[in-house]
Amino acid sequence: MSIKFIDLNSQQLRLKDEINSGIQSVLKHGQYILGPEVRKFEKNLAKFGKSKYALGCANGTDAIVLPLLAWEIGPGDAVFCPSFTYCATAEAIANTGATPVFIDIHRRTYNIDPESLERAINEVKKNRQLVPRAVIAVDLFGQSANYPILSAIAKSYDLKLIADSAQGFGTTLKGKHPLHWADITTTSFFPAKPLGCYGDGGAILTNDDNLAIRIESLRFHGKGEEKYDNTHVGLNSRLDTLQAAILLPKLKIFSEEINVRNFIANRYIDGLKDHVSCLPKIMNGVISTWAQFTIEVTDPELFARRLKEKGIPTARYYPKPVHQQSAYSHFPIEGKKLLNTEDCSNHTISLPMHPYLDNRTQDIIIEIVQKAVK
Ligand SMILES: Cc1ncc(COP(=O)(O)O)c(C=O)c1O
Repeated sequence: MSIKFIDLNSQQLRLKDEINSGIQSVLKHGQYILGPEVRKFEKNLAKFGKSKYALGCANGTDAIVLPLLAWEIGPGDAVFCPSFTYCATAEAIANTGATPVFIDIHRRTYNIDPESLERAINEVKKNRQLVPRAVIAVDLFGQSANYPILSAIAKSYDLKLIADSAQGFGTTLKGKHPLHWADITTTSFFPAKPLGCYGDGGAILTNDDNLAIRIESLRFHGKGEEKYDNTHVGLNSRLDTLQAAILLPKLKIFSEEINVRNFIANRYIDGLKDHVSCLPKIMNGVISTWAQFTIEVTDPELFARRLKEKGIPTARYYPKPVHQQSAYSHFPIEGKKLLNTEDCSNHTISLPMHPYLDNRTQDIIIEIVQKAVK
């Protein structure tokens, strides 16, 4: 039996007919760029995310770049983000010419630490070299960041707040999506994400009319009212019609899949609570999308080898935080060291997680993990 870390095939088999007929109808009408499926998907996505607008774009990285461009954030500006994330969060900032300022995380939730954020904002203001403009919170491994506190901080310093929900799209805090607090939510449809397509894709959700109009222009080369008069320097960053056709049936079952992921996560927690000292910590009132089920062990490399010998794949998110990576190590960090970030990165390791993980397979994984941590 082969155990998969993420199983895209089972979902594909389940949705095969709808996906195939969606693809066929795109091939028939031939509107490959911003065709009717994109509009329909955007409408359904906005409904799902309880937002006024959902705008598709080429990937989850551009989904962050586009609002930064819309707010004219660039050279001389500081944008605060965690370092314990995929590099794309910081890459998007750096590509606008702005400076990413790395913040530490809460030791147990792995999401941005509001106290570290506030200290960093004050350091930047004191140094007067950069102008604080925005905060990007990441819903790491599927869990909502602490938006009520983050939005209060962002408001008091007049900063924009972006929810990078590439991993956590669909997460709620006390029944509310991050957009309830953030100016914008971004997501990625990279195939391995909880809501993924079969290529690259991303989206931006907002309730702000002017921002939505601006982003709609920016994702299409900065187009204006007249076809050949571009009013902004933009990007070519649209969601393909074919990908939208694939995402439409996937979105229909997304809520159900999130529920199943929660069921599986709870089974893992039950089976491992007496064996693994550091299991995922979910904040009160949060429903996670469980993009990853991440535990901490003393020696993740040894643990990974032990599981691999038994046919169980694992993945490490993230053994090297972004502020320690070659391309990003010259950017500022809060304080002298990001202690929690560095500590977590030495211990975290993720177990197989997807909505098609059956009880039997999960029990095998639990049993092998119990032995491997001894
Ligand atoms: C937290 C985070 N932000 C941004 C991205 C970028 O998304 P994409 O790969 O679609 O550009 C990813 C995923 O890869 C991610 O995990």
